[in-house]
Amino acid sequence: MAKNYENEINQLTAKLTLEEKIIMLHGCGLFRTGEVDRLGIPSIRMSDGPMGVRQEFPDANWIPCGLSDDYVSYLPSNSALAATWNPERAYAGGQVLGEEARGRGKDVILAPGINIKRDPLCGRNFEYMSEDPCLIESMVVPFIKGVQENDVAACVKHFAVNNQETERLAVDTLVDERTLREIYLPGFKAAVQEAGSYSLMNAYNKFRGVFCSESKELLDDILREEWGYDGTIISDWGAVHSTKETAESSMDIEMSVTYNFDDYYFAKPLLEAVKKGEVAEADLDKKIKNILRMMYRLKMLGEEAPERKCGAYNTYEHQQKTLQTAKEAIVLLKNEDKVLPITKERLAIEKTSTPDADGLFSARKKKIAVIGINASYQHAGGGGSAEIKAFYEISPLLGLRQQMGGNVRMEYARGYYIPGKKDVNEVNWQEASLERRVMGVEDPDSEEQKALRKEIEENRARLREEAVNLAKDADEVIFVGGLNHDYDTEGRDRDDMRLPYGQDELIEALLDVNPNTIVVIVAGSPVEMPWADRAKAIVWSYFSGMETGNALAEILLGKVSPSAKLPETFPVRYTDTVTYKNEEFGKTDVVEYKEGVFVGYRYYEKEQVKPAFAFGYGLSYTSFDIKDLQVKAVGNADSNLKDTVVTVTATVTNTGDMAGAEVVQCYVADPECSVVRPVKELRGYAKVFLNPGETKTVTIDLPAQAFAFYDVEKKDFTVEAGSFVVYVGNASDNCKLQAEVVL
Ligand code: BGC
Repeated sequence: MAKNYENEINQLTAKLTLEEKIIMLHGCGLFRTGEVDRLGIPSIRMSDGPMGVRQEFPDANWIPCGLSDDYVSYLPSNSALAATWNPERAYAGGQVLGEEARGRGKDVILAPGINIKRDPLCGRNFEYMSEDPCLIESMVVPFIKGVQENDVAACVKHFAVNNQETERLAVDTLVDERTLREIYLPGFKAAVQEAGSYSLMNAYNKFRGVFCSESKELLDDILREEWGYDGTIISDWGAVHSTKETAESSMDIEMSVTYNFDDYYFAKPLLEAVKKGEVAEADLDKKIKNILRMMYRLKMLGEEAPERKCGAYNTYEHQQKTLQTAKEAIVLLKNEDKVLPITKERLAIEKTSTPDADGLFSARKKKIAVIGINASYQHAGGGGSAEIKAFYEISPLLGLRQQMGGNVRMEYARGYYIPGKKDVNEVNWQEASLERRVMGVEDPDSEEQKALRKEIEENRARLREEAVNLAKDADEVIFVGGLNHDYDTEGRDRDDMRLPYGQDELIEALLDVNPNTIVVIVAGSPVEMPWADRAKAIVWSYFSGMETGNALAEILLGKVSPSAKLPETFPVRYTDTVTYKNEEFGKTDVVEYKEGVFVGYRYYEKEQVKPAFAFGYGLSYTSFDIKDLQVKAVGNADSNLKDTVVTVTATVTNTGDMAGAEVVQCYVADPECSVVRPVKELRGYAKVFLNPGETKTVTIDLPAQAFAFYDVEKKDFTVEAGSFVVYVGNASDNCKLQAEVVL
């Protein structure tokens, strides 16, 4: 049982002067609050972010300190983590992040990001987990526990309904109550109630006309009152817009991106407001108590302080955990004619079958063509606040070379051209983040733009030709392309879902000369794949951290079988998405979530739009048989169903000849209900590791909540008595087993 510090907190609060309270309520540096030396209260030191601990910044400058001791482990993005469908990987990821944060002397790590992937074009989707609340809940809880066992606070973000980057600082989000409760809030609720997140970050946007930083509805009514949250609420950087309103809401600490710390709303203006009697000091005391509570929990204060963990970074253990996650995060989307894995035999030196006239054999190394900039690209340093100063990053090319060894002739060609690519170190992203609203305003008809386009075309053609020539007589062709953090980035949404830099044309050309070309896409969010029917092997990797290259090589070479599943639907084309159709994404003033609960597969299934690759989909090198579904309701007699548990069991057998893992997914449908419900909804899953021939029984317990919808009248979740269908399978579009259950 965690110790209760309320006495200490009350006493300490009573000792603080008004000025000292103010110091604790706002940023006194870009990533820290002020300290109160007189009472031994230290600064709270914070850092981004989800993919590792960000480099060090001075108190008042967005130009990094440029130190040599802030290189860290670069961890798989939350998208990659979710693709593992393995809560143990989320726990391991949290442990690594927490230990590294503590090792770097941090108190709060600004992670995880768990906003719903409502539209594939959202620039920050790579930082988020899924389109599905159940998958998010299952991953966010172990992640936060992993972080916090290191005496570091997780800061789950961005609360709430922050689902686009366009005008993110001001856009007003309108979402109906049922949708809010069923889709957008469950991840946060689990983070607060089940994981006990010590802190939470409110979002930039408005919710129902009010900035999230001062939304009484979100912060007071839902978070504090209903969910009983007693941790610290930290504003997103620059998300506070008022003194009195925000002070009177539950928001505790104001952080921002500018250096005028004394002018922050929660600095001098708040001091003045209290002195003038416009804001009650008691409101500040509530905030101070929330902050002190977090500090005691972190052992920053009090008698437990000497026991506080000291952390560690760049350890071998962290690297191994990261590698394991990356291996489980790579999704095999397509594999025909056994193009994958590339076997040892295919890479062996070839000798002529018969000797020549002089009795001599000749030997030939196999030629491996690796094509595409993402094969040699390092992604760690980009994306916005999620950027990482990586201790190392194994690119796919490096991973492949290391693992293929010297008996093959590997040759690399860039294949496509990225115009005007600046080194990540030349761009200071955050400095401009508040102004970064207008992008791409150049006149397309100007001479300069025309000349630029011509140059781009010429370069593309040249690089494409070079790549095709390389591929022509190669034994294996591996294309590694996709997106980078110019596209998967904070502060901007993508314009379309297409692959940039002429990659589609290049892929088609490679498939022309070698139909067995293996297409690997590294990206943070879905892309259209117009060549998908022609390609025999398609592999998907989210930004998977410093071990991406090693993990990818192990997958391509068949040292490990892929076991990841898509945590989001990949539509065939952007125009298939509901947000394209209802035109309610990327608007700059008000965005109304008109699709309601029909987000992701809930929409595609309802409208019977066939996606390119469905939610929960992913192939393996081995095969599995899921059968013997049994569904049993226990405790059903209880009329309010509070104690009801529906136990779902099935057996899984590895029917192939390689060890592997399958994700058994359990969806629930309520065919007859007073409200329109999705065709089915994910309510549980289990990842099972099996040797060839091995069988295991999987049990998934579904509480009554799994059958519930949010009843707007009753203001609560409710289960309507009657019959439900439980579906079990290995993808949302492949649930062959089903059973009825009556509640
Ligand atoms: C982002 C947050 C981040 C903060 C601090 C903001 O721009 O939205 O996710 O934690 O900056 O860098």
